[in-house]
Amino acid sequence: MSEKLAICGGERTIAEGVIKPWPPIDDIDREMVVASLDAHKHVFGPNDKAVQDEFAAWNGHKFVQFTNSGTSALHMCVAACNCGIGDEVIVPAWSWPSSVTCVLHNDAIPVFVDIDFDTINIDVDKIEAAVTERTKAIIVVHLHGLCVAMDKVMEVAKRHNLKVIEDCCQAHGATYKGRRAGTWGDCAGFSCNQNKLLCAGESGFFCTDDEELFNKGKAVMAFGDSPGPFDDPEYHAYAMGWKYNSNDLSAAFARAQLSKLDGYLERIQENAAVFDEGLHGVPHLILPVAPEGHWHNWYNYTIRFDLESMGRDAHDVAFRNKLLEAFAAEGVPSGAWQRFILPAMTVFRAKNAYGKGYPWAAPEAAPVDYSLEQYPVAQLHCDTHTCIVSALRPPNGPDVARLMAQGIRKVMENVEQLDA
Ligand SMILES: Cc1ncc(COP(=O)(O)O)c(C=O)c1O
Repeated sequence: MSEKLAICGGERTIAEGVIKPWPPIDDIDREMVVASLDAHKHVFGPNDKAVQDEFAAWNGHKFVQFTNSGTSALHMCVAACNCGIGDEVIVPAWSWPSSVTCVLHNDAIPVFVDIDFDTINIDVDKIEAAVTERTKAIIVVHLHGLCVAMDKVMEVAKRHNLKVIEDCCQAHGATYKGRRAGTWGDCAGFSCNQNKLLCAGESGFFCTDDEELFNKGKAVMAFGDSPGPFDDPEYHAYAMGWKYNSNDLSAAFARAQLSKLDGYLERIQENAAVFDEGLHGVPHLILPVAPEGHWHNWYNYTIRFDLESMGRDAHDVAFRNKLLEAFAAEGVPSGAWQRFILPAMTVFRAKNAYGKGYPWAAPEAAPVDYSLEQYPVAQLHCDTHTCIVSALRPPNGPDVARLMAQGIRKVMENVEQLDA
């Protein structure tokens, strides 16, 4: 049935204010944050310690450090795995920038591998071909809450004696073959920023089961002070270091949210199922998958447009953006998650992070090739995707999921109106 699109002056599908913001805040959050404030121990306080123990128990780690971001946790992972000057680290060509700039932070060189179109994760069958004598580690990103097929990654890592770092910033609670994200490799970084399923405003976790890696990672956390601020700090820079610990207020917020996280994950499953059902059969869409053995947390529900089926060029980004404007006019809050694949970002094109071409220019480094033809799948995904992030989460329920699917269906069944 032809309906006038809201962008062309028709009625919008979802009224203003229907979709509620993330995360839900209740008295548990208020009480814990105010109690932390009143305790006057704002750094290395009781919540700081407790959130580490609680997250370790929730996800299954021996050692957890609460950090000021997922980015810093990932840098701690890279440092823990001893990736430094001249070393190469295999990374996906599509992710958040700091999944890869964390490698540069420790002077090592990223080597990009294209993604698999269905899972949007690193193509595990292409990892081995990227291994060289300089490769030290593989960073896998469990993107949008879908785990990488970790058994395959671990096999390659074992064959070549490589460390495996898991970027779990979007993967709280996600599992592969029944095992949690973050518990497969040598160490993992989680994020607790505003958008994440465990929100503390900003913050993150550095996690491992290996005490030696834990101490190595922690050494970069407090300006190179060692053995660390918990054990009689000397305030002496033994080595290069940063300032990566978080604070007690954020820890209190994270604890309150962690106590509700299992409930959130259940609600998101229900909402995503309703949304998915509502989108089945909508023309020109490629819906996301959760292959057998994967438990997707639906952090980000990503749709691709089949632009060719609409008579467009497969990479017609301008038309993709027009579709997103039409969704927004219907009240559907979707967006392009990233506008560039990672190797197309300026720091990698210029091969210059610290000036004078470093770390690529280090005499110990071998030349690496970032020519963009190597990443056709990541580029196609980049140009054709859109995503729904927090609207599928509580306090929003299945009614919102149903409305969003209706709004998208309306646009996709009337795309010809966008040419008018
Ligand atoms: C996949 C991924 N990795 C790393 C990060 C960095 O986390 P943070 O913002 O806490 O530094 C993010 C944040 O959005 C992310 O989505």
